[in-house]
Amino acid sequence: MADSEPTISKGLEGVYIAESSICKVDGQNGRLYYRGYPIDALAKHSDFEEVTYLLLNGRLPKGKELEDIKKQLASARDLPQGIIDIILEQSGKADPMDTLRTATSALSAYDPETPDMSPAANMRKSLRIISRVSSIVATIGRVAAGGKYVKPDDSLGHVANFMYMLNHKAPDKRQLDIMRDMFIIHAEHSSNASTFGTMVAGSTLADIYSAITAGISVLKGPLHGGADEAALRMMKQIGSPENTEKYIESALAGKQKVMGFGHRVYKAYDPRAKIIKAYLISLQPGASQELKTYTAIALKAEKMMVERLGASHGIWPNVDFFAGPVYTAAGIPVNLFTPIFAASRSAGWAAHMLEYWQNNRLFRPLEKYTGQVDLKYVPIKERE
Ligand code: CMC
Repeated sequence: MADSEPTISKGLEGVYIAESSICKVDGQNGRLYYRGYPIDALAKHSDFEEVTYLLLNGRLPKGKELEDIKKQLASARDLPQGIIDIILEQSGKADPMDTLRTATSALSAYDPETPDMSPAANMRKSLRIISRVSSIVATIGRVAAGGKYVKPDDSLGHVANFMYMLNHKAPDKRQLDIMRDMFIIHAEHSSNASTFGTMVAGSTLADIYSAITAGISVLKGPLHGGADEAALRMMKQIGSPENTEKYIESALAGKQKVMGFGHRVYKAYDPRAKIIKAYLISLQPGASQELKTYTAIALKAEKMMVERLGASHGIWPNVDFFAGPVYTAAGIPVNLFTPIFAASRSAGWAAHMLEYWQNNRLFRPLEKYTGQVDLKYVPIKERE
């Protein structure tokens, strides 16, 4: 009897891989919830440590619990010399995402609990990774700018310390507000490609360092996390608001993708892009000429894309489109955008692993084989 014809869902579109109570992406209505809380409320009222607690534990922390997670994250920040050496060695040679991937992988060597797969150890390791990925990203940026490793400052919150380790200077209020929001907005987004990559690695019962290193690898590409850097590079290439129309016209005519637009799940305006756009507009009074130019280009491109492809094709700005100009306002160089995305998303990756391991099953999908079978092996001499 012939095998029944398998149905292939290219890119796993529409395929559910698990049950989860971490994050709801309502793609039709453009809404996003972390553990039931709308993203707008969290961006307005919360901070990264509280959001991390929420994602990992399923509820908002009480006073002492928030204090404890802040202490746990702060106490893990300092990087082992071996990790600093990797960053120094790769600086100027590797893309920051590659260095982040390598250094995060190497963190396992400095954690005596790496092989311990108990839920309590996995929670402790999650906090150490979330803490240290931020320190790694800050140090990559610091070294690239010609500086030396900056020891963390335990008196600062997670995001303020990140900025301190990056610049050897505590951030001003404007920088801190921007980065706090960006860390919250990027912390989680259900079973996106990098979270799925993390879960595939973790589902083999490989340790959490392996799983999160896989997540970083998947995040790098321009169809996923790398789109924030690609979108800003595109704005740079456009150069001036007057060139925007011609650029977008020609991109669309050439069937080229415009970076920072479109999403597999959102068929409405991405709520994260709405928050970041509002933020960008609020930054205009007193903005540098560079920021004003990026903003004018971004708003013009957005208008054109929404008119052409918004309601008709469900292609709207996503989280990555307005992110670049906003990071620029905080003084962040372009090749740190995606590593910062990873620093923030490490909370979501860890939350998914902790949840999935409670009821783990190996991911092992199928392929429809289209090759031949039963070929006769021909020795090399007879192949001419
Ligand atoms: N610009 C122009 N056309 C687009 C775009 C875009 N940004 N995105 C999708 N399309 C078109 C695409 O050309 C295709 O058209 P056609 O049917 O005529 O061939 C159609 O829309 C479907 O595109 P797809 O690539 O098959 O859709 P998908 O669901 O696989 O892709 C996506 C989702 C995010 C990969 C895609 O929209 C894209 O490549 N966007 C640009 C990169 C980007 O901004 N990525 C960040 C995603 S959000 C943050 C994150 O999770 O990392």
